[in-house]
Parts: sequence; C-alpha cells; structure tokens
Amino acid sequence: MQIVKREHLKQKPQAGTALGFGRYFTDYMFTMKYTVEKGWHDAKIQPNEPLQFDLGTSIFHYAQGIFEGMKAFLQPDGSVGVFRPDENWARMNNSARRMCIPEFPVSVVEEGLEELLKLEKDWIPKEAGTALYIRPTIVATRVMLGVHASTEYLFFIILSPVGSYYAHGLEPTKLLVEDNYTRATIGGTGEAKCLGNYAASMKAGEEAAEKGFDQVLWLDAQEKRYVEEVGSMNIFFVIGGEVVTPALVGSILPGITRKSCLHILRERGYKTSERRVSIEEIIAAIGNGTLTEAFGTGTAAVISPVGLIRYKKRDYTIGGGKMGLITKMLYDAVTGVQYGTRQDEYGWMKIIR
Ligand code: COI
Repeated sequence: MQIVKREHLKQKPQAGTALGFGRYFTDYMFTMKYTVEKGWHDAKIQPNEPLQFDLGTSIFHYAQGIFEGMKAFLQPDGSVGVFRPDENWARMNNSARRMCIPEFPVSVVEEGLEELLKLEKDWIPKEAGTALYIRPTIVATRVMLGVHASTEYLFFIILSPVGSYYAHGLEPTKLLVEDNYTRATIGGTGEAKCLGNYAASMKAGEEAAEKGFDQVLWLDAQEKRYVEEVGSMNIFFVIGGEVVTPALVGSILPGITRKSCLHILRERGYKTSERRVSIEEIIAAIGNGTLTEAFGTGTAAVISPVGLIRYKKRDYTIGGGKMGLITKMLYDAVTGVQYGTRQDEYGWMKIIR
C-alpha cells in the first residue's frame, strides 16, 4: 500500500481532554477511487487534508453516498483491536448495492485500514470509555447534475479519537417518541447506511433537542404505531423478563452491536424476541410494571440505557430512570471484549500488531 507522508504531524488532544464525538481527526486517511474504466483503483494512505471538489459534483446535489462506523481500542498488550470489522464491510457493500454504488473489494480496504491504524496508533485515546472511531465513507464524485448513478466515486476512511456519544455519558437517555416525522419506510433506504437517512432525521432531532431530549424514537411510517429505532442506535426493551427488539423489517438499520447483544443474550440463556413491538404495548408495559429496562445499541452509542420516553406529551420513566441489570451485563460484556479485559470467546476482535 502506497503511503504518502506528511511534513508536520498535528497536535494530538492532551490526555484528559473531553474528546466529545468526531471533533478531532488524525493525521492520515485512506483513499481509493472508482471509475468505470479502471474499477476501484489507486488505494493509498495520504495526509488527512482538505480535498477540492467542483461544486457540480453529484454528492453535493443528490447524496449518493454511504458510510460506516467502527471503533478501534487499545488492548492491554499494546496491540490494536477493531470490533467486528467484517460485519461493517459486508453491511457497507449491502448499502452500496442499494445506492447503486459499485461494490468495493473488501481485502483492499481491510489492508488499508490495517496500515492506517498501524500508522495512527498513537491517536488511540487511553481513558476509560474512549476509542478511535473509524469512519469509512463512499461519495459520488462525477461532476454532473443529471439524476443518475455516478460513474465515479471516492472511498475514504478517516479516524477520530472519541469519548462518549452522549454528552452525559452513561446517564440514561431521554427519548421523544416521534409521531409526526418519518425516518424511513418499507421500500425506502432505512436499512442502508446512506447519507440521506441522517439528513432526513435532523428536523425531528433538532425539535426534540429543543425540548430537552437526547434523540427521537422513530415509529413505522405507515401506522405510526410500531417502534423502529433511534437513528443513532437500535432499541431494546425488557418486557416480562424477555428482551425484545424490533424485527428488521426493511426500514431499520441492521446494527452490529444489536446483533452482538442478541448473540450474548441467547448464549447466556435469556429469552429474546425480534418482533414488531407497538408503542401502545410499551406504554402499557411501563404502566403495569412489566417493562423493566430499555436501552439503545450502536457503535458510537455502545449500550446506552434509556431512562425516560415522552409519548403524546406524557412522560414515562423506565426502570426508575437508572441503568438496568441486563443493560449493565451487556455493557460489561461488549466493552470487556472491546477493551480486551474479557476473553473474546466469539472471535469478534480483529487484532492488529
Ligand atoms: C455509529 O454508531 O457508528 C453511527 O454511525 C451512528 C451515528 C453516529 C451516525
């Protein structure tokens, strides 16, 4: 892999700096281009510096682009561990197919990420709860205004040392059940990790933030009845001892942390169910005390307890507004594997030395 070195390295955030999420970026990035004639080509590592694009470039107009989120963690033996990257590459190629983006060769981006992480190892923050966030992205780069799939693309991976996704860390989140706006619908792009899904969610997110909520809990587009996901996380509820999460009906992102939590729960003998779950069922179960915990899962959010939901102007506290036992068990299990303090019994970590 070609590596173009930079003259001066950036100043890294000092130990103890509140990193937030996606505020700092490392010295280098991985890039690769696509043209119809050459396919994916010119894979290299180069300084993470601004690139120039013509304002007619199609990504600026029609959002033909996709991304992923992964994390790298410093292991106790000094190596670098990435959580389930194969799952992200597979999901990214699924998103590519949905967005008419040519599939990329996994082996090339795998090698690119490995080399990039070796080069940027010193950027991995060491404080508890921090990680090096990995953002692979593909954008359409052909200069044209016709609404057609582009014939040129840029694949890039940038890295950002991050802390907790939520400013309040592991404090339970407050969610506003969104019964006006829609994130995604069956036949739409909800299960692809495409740029437009996130742009479409912002209006609801901003209005929820103004009312003091962390995120919105999306309902299905047709009936505004079935719970879908949070946008930055998948959602789980513990109802009558059973751990329930909405089934992947086509409008929900198939989360990798979601899949990992279901695996851990099943291996440990918990009753789990992936099914349609209505907001009426949730409200009734909170009312009769059978809903004991709720939590979100995601790469950025990890496992985040949910302490309160608002639906039709009424607030419902969940689990006394505290992190529940199953949520804590999953948090410890997933982060233990990620930080290398627990045995990686399912072979989820890719270790880079
Ligand atoms: C992630 O968890 O990696 C995400 O992509 C969610 C959000 C930060 C966009």
